[in-house]
Amino acid sequence: MSKIALISGITGQDGSYLAELLLQKGYVVHGIVRRSSSFNRARIDHLTKDKNIYQHKLFLHYGDLTDSSNLNRILEKTNPDEIYNLAAQSHVQVSFEIPEYSAEVDAVGTIRFLDALRETGVKSKFYQASTSELYGKVQEIPQTETTPFYPRSPYAVAKLYSYWIVRNYREAYNIFASNGILFNHESERRGKSFVTRKISVNVAKIILGLTDILYLGNIDSKRDWGYAPEYVEGMWRILQAKEPNDFVLSTNETHTVREFIEESFKCFNEEIVWEGIGIHEKGILKSSGKVVVAINPMYFRPTEVDILIGDYSKAKKKLGWEPKTKFKELVKIMVQYDYNNIKKTL
Ligand code: NAP
Ligand code: GDD
Repeated sequence: MSKIALISGITGQDGSYLAELLLQKGYVVHGIVRRSSSFNRARIDHLTKDKNIYQHKLFLHYGDLTDSSNLNRILEKTNPDEIYNLAAQSHVQVSFEIPEYSAEVDAVGTIRFLDALRETGVKSKFYQASTSELYGKVQEIPQTETTPFYPRSPYAVAKLYSYWIVRNYREAYNIFASNGILFNHESERRGKSFVTRKISVNVAKIILGLTDILYLGNIDSKRDWGYAPEYVEGMWRILQAKEPNDFVLSTNETHTVREFIEESFKCFNEEIVWEGIGIHEKGILKSSGKVVVAINPMYFRPTEVDILIGDYSKAKKKLGWEPKTKFKELVKIMVQYDYNNIKKTL
């Protein structure tokens, strides 16, 4: 008998890779999708096309984490063995603009899901998409599962609630519920408003002569960036463990946004020279003297997370999980994909 998985957030970066992985492993996959006025399924389109090999293995259900009764109905209808709760308002800066909605989805949405499990009596394992944003103003370097949290945005505070309610329901009701504390992971499917993809798309356009300047906010913040397909494999392993538990998935390397920009241009044998300070700083192409990067304060956040770097030893020891793709290779994958993709359309 095939195992059954239910994924919220299946149309997102991680949801799409996870759906692919689970289908490859022989699962029947159910995904929750939001009604949208324009097409929001581009990342899973290849899995849902007619005569696809997964035609009778992948099912989509309209739903929303702000609607409890619909979560109950989906659970009763699908009776999953494993639930992956990936749905979220996932943009940190946007959470400062819509803090209440971010809490509705990223915090209350999780308790709606867990309570739907209790109410329906469905016996499913539960994976929660927790985040390195919980560490915020970091209390320790590198961050581990025992590092104290200090969230720095409405998004991170909402995710803190979810982290703890997952632990509470695990202890109170003996539910197999686990947190994956995932550090930033990127890919050619990353949303274009996140910094890595914004850089890879715009560097490709600058090289192709389609745009002049890439405007960014804080280019000195540091992130631990890994490759998303490897992280969804980690999510699956977290639910295959003997006991429910909480795990950091990361690369144990940290790089600045500035380095991401420099490395992206290097893929085209271009060197960036920096001139000026603060909001007047500019990135200039050494070969031509053209300004290609500038600062726009509209991308600054009211409170910033300066550095993230995760220690994944526990996941390595207990799950046999390790990241493979390191920083330079990740940049290359993303930049080359965007360059080829944009060039095709010219
Ligand atoms: P993403 O690309 O932004 O995808 C988010 C998904 O959630 C989309 O499918 C979106 O649907 C769905 N969604 C948003 N609001 C919803 C609602 N009210 N009800 C139902 N679905 C809703 O995010 P991601 O990068 O794949 O991340 C997946 C999860 O991991 C998120 O919870 C994120 O916070 C967390 N996380 C991500 C990272 C990372 O570096 N990527 C690191 C740590 C944790 P639409 O397509 O319709 O918008
Ligand atoms: N988005 C964005 N746009 N970020 C910028 C920009 C810009 O123009 N300029 C500088 N940055 C900086 C941000 O200030 C931040 O320090 C860093 O680039 C990374 O920003 P994002 O790519 O938006 O990611 P994030 O780290 O805030 O959040 C992502 O990772 C979290 C895990 O740590 C998201 O995927 C979250 O959902 C996830 O939980």
